[in-house]
Amino acid sequence: DRLLDVDLSSLTPGQDMSVRWRDWPVFIQRRTPQMLAALQAPDHLATLRDADSKVLQQPKDATNWHRSVRPEYGVLIGVCTHLGCVPSFEKPGSTPEAKGGYFCPCHGSHFDAAGRVARRAPAPCNLPVPPVTFLSDTKLRIG
Ligand code: FES
Repeated sequence: DRLLDVDLSSLTPGQDMSVRWRDWPVFIQRRTPQMLAALQAPDHLATLRDADSKVLQQPKDATNWHRSVRPEYGVLIGVCTHLGCVPSFEKPGSTPEAKGGYFCPCHGSHFDAAGRVARRAPAPCNLPVPPVTFLSDTKLRIG
């Protein structure tokens, strides 16, 4: 079970799903154009501790501004880099601030939709990105 194949066909834009891979929760989100725009907004980038993900190594094909293989899908290991709680998804539009990021309830760390941590959060670094391959437009492999 080092490889996990996931069917994405039920995931609608703005939604996320959670799967288990190697005992870790993995978040998969389908991004809307608004979510993608929010990830690039200069005033948002200024609030991030490590906007370019220099601290935490990640797969080569995810070292881009959206931290994923395809911009419209984000895949992140859902373990807070502070003390390991599982953050929850902030569905876009569910509150005025919610832009599809993640919030860790344990000590209040905020991560954006690309898993990048807010400067003022207790978590020291961004959420890790697992290795991902697309087998088709709606099927991805983690591992
Ligand atoms: Fe997430 Fe502390 S474990 S903020």
